[in-house]
Amino acid sequence: MNHTLPGAPYFHYGDPGLMVEGLSLAALAQEHGTPLYVYSKAAMQGALAAYQAGFAGRKAQICYAMKANSSLAVLQVFARAGCGFDIVSGGELARVRAAGGDMQKVIFSGVGKTRLEMRDALAAGIGCFNVESEPEIEVLNAVAVSMGLRAPISIRVNPNVDPKTHPYISTGLKGNKFGIAHERTLATYQHAATLPGLRIVGIDCHIGSQITEEAPYLDALDRMLDLVQAIEATGIALEHIDFGGGLGIQYYDEVPPAADALWAKLLQKIDARSLEKHTLMIEPGRSLVGNAGVCITEVLYLKPGEQKNFCIVDAAMNDLPRPAMYQAYHAIVPLQPSTASAVHTVYDVVGPVCESGDWIGRDRALAAQPGQQLAVMSAGAYCMSMASNYNTRGRAAEVLVDGDKATVIRARESLSELFRGECLAD
Ligand code: LLP
Repeated sequence: MNHTLPGAPYFHYGDPGLMVEGLSLAALAQEHGTPLYVYSKAAMQGALAAYQAGFAGRKAQICYAMKANSSLAVLQVFARAGCGFDIVSGGELARVRAAGGDMQKVIFSGVGKTRLEMRDALAAGIGCFNVESEPEIEVLNAVAVSMGLRAPISIRVNPNVDPKTHPYISTGLKGNKFGIAHERTLATYQHAATLPGLRIVGIDCHIGSQITEEAPYLDALDRMLDLVQAIEATGIALEHIDFGGGLGIQYYDEVPPAADALWAKLLQKIDARSLEKHTLMIEPGRSLVGNAGVCITEVLYLKPGEQKNFCIVDAAMNDLPRPAMYQAYHAIVPLQPSTASAVHTVYDVVGPVCESGDWIGRDRALAAQPGQQLAVMSAGAYCMSMASNYNTRGRAAEVLVDGDKATVIRARESLSELFRGECLAD
């Protein structure tokens, strides 16, 4: 690899081998088994600090998009740092509660909120519902009226901006299911303002994920600020502007804008229109946790082939679905650096799941040996939170490292847990 290791400096080579903060990843794998997710608390705090620096002196609220990694101890790190949470289900609301998060700092996004989820979130006193369609506005109004409450809302605008990322993770284009079309937004606000069960508090957008250029953000903000001014000109006051998440991370050699530098530019646009009285909200997920985690896996077998050589490891698409789902690249590095003279062979790194789509990395030059451990880098976001039990495989264990202290924050899933809730028919 001739660029920096993703996750550096929190993940770094030392003695012995690849380290997370002050601990050896090989020692953690030895103690807890593989596949094993390992997170650096300092890396999460460092990523958050870049946003906080960008917002210094401003009214701002960072709502961690917990779908990226919703493990309770990870949520606790962000709750203790003063973050709110962007949630998309009643299950995520329950996780905020379990992690000690502040309900008033919760925003509820998603195109398919059920009445039950709305009721629970209203009863919990969350900060804002990001409403994604005109029918949802009617249902939320009815639910709030039935409870004698007013639901705080933002309308999620679909600004029709191309975030230039993978099509599955683009959300702000006309063809996507998210948000209310830019042209419909003003009329929808005017209608919402007449409904007795709603209280308009903000405006929201989120254009996509793993965005590595600043241009889509600058364009989307211009379109949002036009709308803010048009809405306020009709007498509807907005307290906050929520600009979503989406900032990308380094998986290979990408150099996404730094959060503070990006926000310095975005804030200039807000100030230029004298809109600085609004509280700024953002919903970052990946950029807070993606490079704070790795997945350690052990090489089981090397299988040479005519067309391809396979390096079969004990982590699979059920543990780490991003390559199978999005053809995503994750760096794969040995825990013990190979010597310059070691013979490297080009492998597809694959898991034990019975699918040809079960691969973790393609065409990787490795001096691999059975029993050797590898680290799949940039695995803090959308890996464990998307893990499944496919092929009746228990989900991996997770460890959070803080300096030289390691805490198991999720036990490896046992076989009995895999059958829980099931029974034979007679
Ligand atoms: N806000 C909303 C409304 C979202 O839908 C998302 C992500 C975020 C915030 C956080 O975006 P981030 O800062 O993490 O980019 N599983 C895919 C990513 C799906 C993103 C879904 N929405 C992946 O592994 O790349």
